[in-house]
Amino acid sequence: MSKITIKTILEKKKKKEKITALTAYDYSFATILDEAGVDIVLVGDSLGMVVLGYSTTLPVSMEDMIRHTRAVSKGVSTSLIVADMPFLSFQTGEEKGIENAGRLLQNGAEAVKLEGGSSVEPLVRKLVNFGIPVMGHLGLTPQAIHAFGGYKIQGKSEEAAKLLLKEAKLLESAGCFSIVLECVPKNLAEEITENLQIPTIGIGAGEKCDGQILVLYDCLGLTPDFNPKFAKKFADLRELSLKGVRQYIQEVKSGEFPDEAHSF
Ligand code: KIV
Repeated sequence: MSKITIKTILEKKKKKEKITALTAYDYSFATILDEAGVDIVLVGDSLGMVVLGYSTTLPVSMEDMIRHTRAVSKGVSTSLIVADMPFLSFQTGEEKGIENAGRLLQNGAEAVKLEGGSSVEPLVRKLVNFGIPVMGHLGLTPQAIHAFGGYKIQGKSEEAAKLLLKEAKLLESAGCFSIVLECVPKNLAEEITENLQIPTIGIGAGEKCDGQILVLYDCLGLTPDFNPKFAKKFADLRELSLKGVRQYIQEVKSGEFPDEAHSF
């Protein structure tokens, strides 16, 4: 398979080919996603919740993102690698945002994703002008979780829907190459998708988006206690892992392991 680039992603929308995206945080899973042929690997700041055990994404630092982006980049050769700009890595000034985006690119990312609409538009323009591709993120933006008062569907009222459409167009005009739409009604996601030249990547936003993304740990059934409606479990790795670990414990205790085949 040939390398997926920003151009490939834009062409997929024109050809009406669905775009596939999943998150990854480490080398081993990154190799699986790449080998399976996923278009976009997102080093999401969801790593704070599914890998580091925080209750929100807010404590994730640039150092966390750099470490995990570097690990993922070692396992990917074909997929496009996008890395999240974590909370406070861009909100406190454009210069800081540009520097932090650049650090992610220096560590293996090929594009960055940042949450927000009109508030980030000037920064998006600057990043794109400096050659740093940007993926937007609208709807339920988890870094604003306290402002939303919880993980709730966004854009439900007519006014909120109009604002989301306006912000999506603004991000497109600022140069984003795609926009994640998280937890928005599917009709609104469809309207936004039809009104943009760049692809929309949905998560809890219905089937009319140009592509779909899920948090890998939700997709593979590894998250113990967070199961949003949109997160279909495509495998149950938690159950499989529990089974394997329990068998290991039992075989060590009984003396069955290590046997001749696993000894020198
Ligand atoms: O951090 C993340 O995993 C994300 C996806 C949910 C889009 O932003």
